[in-house]
Amino acid sequence: MIKEQRFIRASQFDTAGPCPVFVKSFSTRPPVRATLDVTAKGVYYAELNGLRVGNFIMAPGYTQYSSRLQVQSYDITNLIKPGENTLEVTLSGGWYAGRIASRTMEWSPEIIAEIVLSYEDGTSLTLGTDETWLVGTGPLIFSDIYHGEVFDARKEVSHLIPAVFSQDNTDTLIAQEGETVEEQEIFSSLSIFTTPNGETVVDFGQNLAGYPVFSLNAKEGEVLSLSFAETLDKNGNFYNENYRSAKCQYHYTCRDGFQSFKPRCTFYGFRYIRIDQFPESATLNEDTFTAIAVYSKIKKTGHISTSNSKLNQLFSNVLWGQRSNFLDVPTDCPQRNERYGWTGDALCFCKTASYNFDVLTFFKKWLRDMDAMRKEFGYVGLKVPGKATKIAAAWTDAAVFVPWQIYLSYGDREFLEEMIDMMVAHVDLIGKESEVPNTWRGGNNLRQFGDWLATDSLDKDRDAVFVTTSYSGATNPDFLQAAFYAQDAKIVADALDVLGRDSKKYRDLADAIKEQFQKDFTKYNTQTECIIALRFGLAKDPEEVLKLLIRKIRENGNRMSTGFVGTPHILHALSENGRVDLAYTLLLQEQYPSWLFCVNLGATTMWEHWDSINLDGDMWSTAMNSFNHYAYGAVADWIYEVAAGIRQEEKSAGFSQLVIHPHPDKRLDWLEASYETKYGTVSSKWTNTVDGGTRYEISVPRDAKVVLPGKTMKVSKGNYIFFEKQ
Ligand code: BGC
Repeated sequence: MIKEQRFIRASQFDTAGPCPVFVKSFSTRPPVRATLDVTAKGVYYAELNGLRVGNFIMAPGYTQYSSRLQVQSYDITNLIKPGENTLEVTLSGGWYAGRIASRTMEWSPEIIAEIVLSYEDGTSLTLGTDETWLVGTGPLIFSDIYHGEVFDARKEVSHLIPAVFSQDNTDTLIAQEGETVEEQEIFSSLSIFTTPNGETVVDFGQNLAGYPVFSLNAKEGEVLSLSFAETLDKNGNFYNENYRSAKCQYHYTCRDGFQSFKPRCTFYGFRYIRIDQFPESATLNEDTFTAIAVYSKIKKTGHISTSNSKLNQLFSNVLWGQRSNFLDVPTDCPQRNERYGWTGDALCFCKTASYNFDVLTFFKKWLRDMDAMRKEFGYVGLKVPGKATKIAAAWTDAAVFVPWQIYLSYGDREFLEEMIDMMVAHVDLIGKESEVPNTWRGGNNLRQFGDWLATDSLDKDRDAVFVTTSYSGATNPDFLQAAFYAQDAKIVADALDVLGRDSKKYRDLADAIKEQFQKDFTKYNTQTECIIALRFGLAKDPEEVLKLLIRKIRENGNRMSTGFVGTPHILHALSENGRVDLAYTLLLQEQYPSWLFCVNLGATTMWEHWDSINLDGDMWSTAMNSFNHYAYGAVADWIYEVAAGIRQEEKSAGFSQLVIHPHPDKRLDWLEASYETKYGTVSSKWTNTVDGGTRYEISVPRDAKVVLPGKTMKVSKGNYIFFEKQ
């Protein structure tokens, strides 16, 4: 970790010009060990003697930069040569100063670094950032997260001038906290074809976040130019109007001979690339392009497989929604001019996320950024990192829901202790903001998203750029605010109990909000209102609310009409109240709106809207239509927890008290899931047998409770098979 160094910058720098390159030349005898600690205000790409340093893509990552800037430490021993060495660090505005930060013109590119060379005789040499470093420009002519890159392979690093010290202090430096972002799966091109419009398009078969790599022989000055898309339109033409103002392009000017190249400081959300220009002397074939998925190095811990191939595709889409949007922070989408850490999306998905992958480290970093934002602005905003401008139910409540879910998933009590002030502060803030006591109503900072993108909206004006009613569904936002406020208070009381602190104030508050809620909301108008009241334990007469929910689902043709708020809970609300059968009906539903509707239309990731594409092949609109939004992927936690039945006792955390409680359904032949807990892997499979019974195969890594129809058993570590007769 850098302690003594200072930031350096260029004395003059044109923010509209090529990306700056910081250069340090030094001479050394062979060291036994060499390290480079470095970070920058922007996204950097470091090369030592022409070879890339480390494998962290988009370093130093996306944090609340005003108080937290991660420093990376690389072992560079193998890159050092005896004699002259040259370190080059190229910098783009990235999240810090690119279009995504909306402050390009203020950017003063700065880096801070320290090279430590340790020798066999016990001596060492430290080379920190100072005026001996030079700054110039190189082949990266332009780089931006939204707009892509322009690279001129003919250019060398030139126009070098001495760096100067910056006035910025180093208080914000922190050691690397998150998972590093790395290159992961590689996809060959599935096909190269000509669209009806006459354009040449490459299909990689999977929507993802990352970049293409190309390899070709060309002549100096020839150009390769690419555009990116997630889908084709109904006529089979390349379509990327949904990227909105994000240009997402790649332009590369060749040098002579063979070259293999990929973007350096940006990423794209895509399945298809359109070849806008191709070097005349090069040959295009299946090997010219591959696509590389880039995301945080999260370890896969969950697996789901069933006898239904459509459900399996759905699960694959859920995983790819997560991979594509876990690129250092949990984002809404990886392609258009957003890619922000939208709090509501993370709140929806964090439970599923923690079954699929080990996301403890990933979320710890993001939640610390959230806490840093709270300390900076007094409250948590809609997007983290960023500026806090508004608060919104089911969005900024991530300040309570996400740390709690991370505690439940991993049992890290110390981290809960670290987060508790933020959780408490959020509940207190609602109390202060609300114009009416014991509910959440009004207030200057309130933003209402409602049940975002629910299909029960009264106003279907889809072409409007932002029409609240058509985007936010028919659920009463005041209802959601009151419900989330009650649940926030309850969670905070539970968290205080876990920490051995006095929870009475928040337990009483939760009761008072519930009482007020039951007075204020006597009539439920939407599926989501029923679902949330059931799930948060707020309904005065749960049986009646369940009946109403069932009626609303039936009246809608056994289909949901829910958005971001209701969808993650709908199957749970049904199964918790004895209607697993209806939950399966929704899971297996193929008519719009449903999960399998999107699968039937060829989705390889989760869509933002239930009808991002409709049956006629038309797009929802160009205004807000991502094909890679993980939110509705939250359905997977129900499959793990209820269908396969891998869960934990209610008061347990980190799966220390395992429960296996599978719920088979005759509409599937079999279903299996596994989850890697810190104690080992737990798996559960059920199969409907030909004689009408059910066979269960269960494996647990420690003592567990097994619940099967009519019996509950305690089992110890091992593999078990049970049969249930018809
Ligand atoms: C994002 C969402 C987000 C929302 C806020 C959208 O533009 O893509 O996923 O939660 O804004 O309502």
